[in-house]
Amino acid sequence: MTDVNPILVSQLAGAGLDRREARWLVEEFYDDPVALEAAQKRRLSGEPLQYVLGHWPFRSLDLDLDERVLIPRPESEELVDVALTELAKNDAVTPLLLDVGCGSGAIGLSLLAELGNRGLRASLVALDVSPDALALSRENARKHQLHAVTFVASDWFSELDPSFRGRFDLIVANPPYVSEVAFTELDPVLSYEPRDALVAPDASGVGGFADVQRIIRDAPRWLGPSGVLVLEHGYDQGEAALRACRDAGYRDVRDLEDLAGHPRVLVARP
Ligand SMILES: C[S@@+](CC[C@H](N)C(=O)[O-])C[C@H]1O[C@@H](n2cnc3c(N)ncnc32)[C@H](O)[C@@H]1O
Repeated sequence: MTDVNPILVSQLAGAGLDRREARWLVEEFYDDPVALEAAQKRRLSGEPLQYVLGHWPFRSLDLDLDERVLIPRPESEELVDVALTELAKNDAVTPLLLDVGCGSGAIGLSLLAELGNRGLRASLVALDVSPDALALSRENARKHQLHAVTFVASDWFSELDPSFRGRFDLIVANPPYVSEVAFTELDPVLSYEPRDALVAPDASGVGGFADVQRIIRDAPRWLGPSGVLVLEHGYDQGEAALRACRDAGYRDVRDLEDLAGHPRVLVARP
């Protein structure tokens, strides 16, 4: 933007804000000095920029965001690419998708929007245990006029309608996978995000593995004949995830590595 007020930007930068962020805040709150001052204070006190602005881009969507949900991570944009590639192998024209632990709706709503752009009439079931997260993901669906979504309040698969059994073409998940111990050592800025979106109990001797394990265990009964699970897990949970897949009887399993060479995204077909 060229017409942003340079004097205001310099004032905010002088108060300690990064100059680019100062410009974004001025652009966002240019017509409301009180809101701008409040935003400046929130940002200077360490609150994540995405919450202060109240929205942030994720792939093709501008998602409303606040402290009710995890801030979607750039890695999850790649998870969407993996999901699209895997879905394309199924040749489904009207794919049925399940986003478990949908948070802001970032992953599932992006899939719905992008499949729609490719001429596919996808439907999405988005579930979360947090009513707050569901409320915000509903708002995001409305904002982007994505209507083919059913929202379900559920502790993982427990409240899903049994009529969905054996029907999903894709189950996608970015569940909590940080252990209690690791959480205490992470960047304190994470304390602005809902703890239950990040931290999971340990399982099978692996820190933070309980939710990943449960999703791997329960997904097969909800997947269709050529359905696929695409699931992000912790950088040190690769071996445990592969073991859980073997125990659950998946026949086709890959664990894709991140840029640091850690297995991070499980792609598994039962
Ligand atoms: C890491 S966040 C991911 C949010 C979103 N999918 C994203 O990638 O931005 C994990 C999400 O799982 C939800 N969650 C945690 N425990 C859950 C449970 N037992 N059942 C369903 N959802 C759960 C949290 O509320 C949170 O929204």
